[in-house]
Amino acid sequence: MSRFERHVFVCINERDESDARGCCVASGSLDVHRWFKSEFKSRNWKGRMRANKAGCLDVCEFGPAVVVYPEGVWYSPRSEQEVKEICDRHLAGGEVVTELLIPGLG
Ligand code: FES
Repeated sequence: MSRFERHVFVCINERDESDARGCCVASGSLDVHRWFKSEFKSRNWKGRMRANKAGCLDVCEFGPAVVVYPEGVWYSPRSEQEVKEICDRHLAGGEVVTELLIPGLG
C-alpha cells in the first residue's frame, strides 16, 4: 500500500539540443514540477500527495511527461493552470482530466 494518497512523477530528464528525441526539461518540466510542489504546499497536502522528479519516462515526444499513481494516468501539462486542473480534478477529486492526457496512454 502506498504511503501517499497520490504520487506524481515529473520527468526532468535533459538531453543535448542536438538529440532528436528532445527532452522534458526543454518542454518546461522543471516549471511543471515546481508548480506541483507549490500547489501541494498551498493546499497543505504534505503527507497526502507527493510530487517527485523522475528520469526519462520514455514518452519524450509528449513532454513534459507526468504520471500519477496509483492510477497510472499520464499527463502533459503545459501551464500552471493545467497543473491546477490536475490538482483540482484528479488529485483532489479523483476525476481523470481527459483533455490533458498523453495520447494513447491515459
Ligand atoms: S525525456 Fe521525459 S519522458 Fe523522456
